[in-house]
Amino acid sequence: MSAAAPRQADPDPRELVRDRVVVVTGASSGIGRATAIAFAAAGSHVVGAARRGHALSELQADLERLGATAMMVPTDVTDEGSVGRLVDRTVARFGRLDVLVSSAGAYVRTPLLELTTADLERSLQVNFYGAVRPALAALPHFLAQGRGHLVFVSSLISRKGLPYESPYAVAKWALTGFADVARQELRPHGIAVTTVMPGRVATAFIEGVRFHPISKPIPPSDVAEAIVRAVRRRQAEVMLPRRASAIHYAAAVSPRLADWGVRRFRLEGWLETGEAPGRAGPLPAGATLEDPEP
Ligand SMILES: NC(=O)c1ccc[n+]([C@@H]2O[C@H](COP(=O)([O-])OP(=O)(O)OC[C@H]3O[C@@H](n4cnc5c(N)ncnc54)[C@H](OP(=O)(O)O)[C@@H]3O)[C@@H](O)[C@H]2O)c1
Repeated sequence: MSAAAPRQADPDPRELVRDRVVVVTGASSGIGRATAIAFAAAGSHVVGAARRGHALSELQADLERLGATAMMVPTDVTDEGSVGRLVDRTVARFGRLDVLVSSAGAYVRTPLLELTTADLERSLQVNFYGAVRPALAALPHFLAQGRGHLVFVSSLISRKGLPYESPYAVAKWALTGFADVARQELRPHGIAVTTVMPGRVATAFIEGVRFHPISKPIPPSDVAEAIVRAVRRRQAEVMLPRRASAIHYAAAVSPRLADWGVRRFRLEGWLETGEAPGRAGPLPAGATLEDPEP
């Protein structure tokens, strides 16, 4: 009887991030910034992208303090040319691109009775196309390398909509749907896709909005650690925190039960004045592309 062929050893999960080139969009703040730091701490080379150059310069200094190689590229994810330059500069500097984390996003909320298609378009531009554009730009490099990993920071709202958040929900449902298809189509090419669906996260995104303790915001570092873990384990989907993902299971069983849960715990949150966070709620400040030099 011939000896069985030796089994290929599973790759050491640490190797899936050490010395890898990781591009993070939305790196100037919140989850993206925390993710850039978490990858740097794990031994990755990090490329940070966002519009605010000053915030990127601060991140670069923090990453270098960790001993990481870092490059900041001012980028507007709503602009095709800008995203193309991000990928080109990454490959020119490092010779490859291993992981793309699409975290750039904007919280666009409007009560349905005041909704315009412009609100929907604004949200889709940053939250959907702004995540898909960098992915499409990275794909030719992933294909040439025979490997790569796309991480889409979506939201639990893509499993259960919340009042006043239709522009945001529409974009995140689209993104989760896109990622679901991409994961299956890209698998034969050695390319992994992870969809990250956080509940509330304590960042500038939801500043000024209050929540029931059941949806108490988690720190962005929790999401960042989950993202690094997901890349090491090549996980398909990550929902966090565990208590928030209950709404996903409730919605799968019964939409009305999930609606009741949303009403019971006011999951959409409220402003300090007690009002619902509608159009008058805090919206992300507009920003233009800035050079990263201070
Ligand atoms: N916070 C939450 O409760 C929560 C929950 C679930 C999912 N998420 C998702 O997590 C992601 C990160 O949000 P966050 O909570 O970390 O919010 P954040 O602190 O406000 O960060 C948003 C980031 O997106 C960047 N950004 C916005 N528009 C951009 C554009 N046109 N081009 C390039 N970068 C742009 C911002 O940078 P510049 O302004 O410098 O461009 C910033 O770095 C988003 O996709 C969001 O939908 C957040």
